[in-house]
Amino acid sequence: MTKQKLHQCIYFDNAATTWPKPISVTKAVCRALTEYGANPGRSGYAMGIASSHQIFRCRQLAAEFFNLDNPANVVFAQSCTMALNIVLKGLLKSGGRVIVSDLEHNAVMRPLHALSLCKPAYDIARVTPGNTEKTLESFRRLICSDTKAIVCLHASNVFGIRLPIRELGRLAHQYGILFIVDGAQSAGLLPIDMQADGIDFLCVPGHKGLYGPMGIGMLLCNCKHYLPPLFEGGTGSLSADLSQPVELPDRFESGTPNTAGICGLCAGIEFVKKRGIQNILEHEMQIVKYIYHRLETMKDVILYTEYPDIERYSPVIAFNIKHRQSEDTAEALDRRGIAVRAGLHCAPSAHRHFNTLNTGAVRVAPSVFTTMRDAQYLCDCIREEAN
Ligand code: ALA
Repeated sequence: MTKQKLHQCIYFDNAATTWPKPISVTKAVCRALTEYGANPGRSGYAMGIASSHQIFRCRQLAAEFFNLDNPANVVFAQSCTMALNIVLKGLLKSGGRVIVSDLEHNAVMRPLHALSLCKPAYDIARVTPGNTEKTLESFRRLICSDTKAIVCLHASNVFGIRLPIRELGRLAHQYGILFIVDGAQSAGLLPIDMQADGIDFLCVPGHKGLYGPMGIGMLLCNCKHYLPPLFEGGTGSLSADLSQPVELPDRFESGTPNTAGICGLCAGIEFVKKRGIQNILEHEMQIVKYIYHRLETMKDVILYTEYPDIERYSPVIAFNIKHRQSEDTAEALDRRGIAVRAGLHCAPSAHRHFNTLNTGAVRVAPSVFTTMRDAQYLCDCIREEAN
């Protein structure tokens, strides 16, 4: 492929990062680099104040978007992974353990594995797709006096399975433990209400369903539980004190922030709000349902989940062509100008659940910009490859 054509692919890898971005996001990033170039929160001159103001605007918007009452509890981090590290390592620093689902991404599993090298830090509950009671029961069974929290993803990045977060939040609080949600695949796509869902800590990326740029994520804190900081450093506040400030967001925000990323994220959230989460979700589900129906009729295609209804699934499908490694299928599709992710998607637990650790799977994830024509072309190509 020539350089000019690299970005002209039919892009179905939106679960990894959404692309293209809305024009308003690109413009906001450019504007930040041009007009808000001063270091925010450090100086009292006009451009410094303007940068701080833009950052606060994003905190306000994010707090409102996820129904969090205090914008100061919106912490900017480099990524969702970084936010999860802050929470997990802060929470388990003094011992204890958490319960996770068996569909988790390595963003949760690797920090927990590292913590477990000293002392077992987690238990794994089995998710039964579509069966809330059974799923809840498998979490409930594992709660013990050492359990500090339930930690789980909202939707599987590989198989699209949604977890019953509201019920899990209720369960956690019934036992007096915290509820931590990895919203990597759902923020901007599925409704999240931190109050109603009983979420104590929500970790989200900016560059997926919120349509911001890469390199910016958020940790939203909805409880009084004190977590020690993962990093220490300059915050522009209480500079005479060698101790890290305790107040949020400064406790977790050392060093110069990613102003351009935050401004881009702000524009991304505005874009999602304007389109409406429900409209975006319905559009993507329509595409995914069409693809599912087409793939179902191909005898050499293996689908791993049931029909993706909107209540139980997020708009992601995983499949394989019989007797083929997922990477080979993805490579063949790439030759036809289609971008999909194959392999294990940094989620070996989820692949273990579906017995696909050896083959991996090909993942298809649309975005608000995907058209039905893209979906038709994808299915035509899969049919030819599978024959
Ligand atoms: N976590 C991202 C994915 O699922 C990168 O592809």
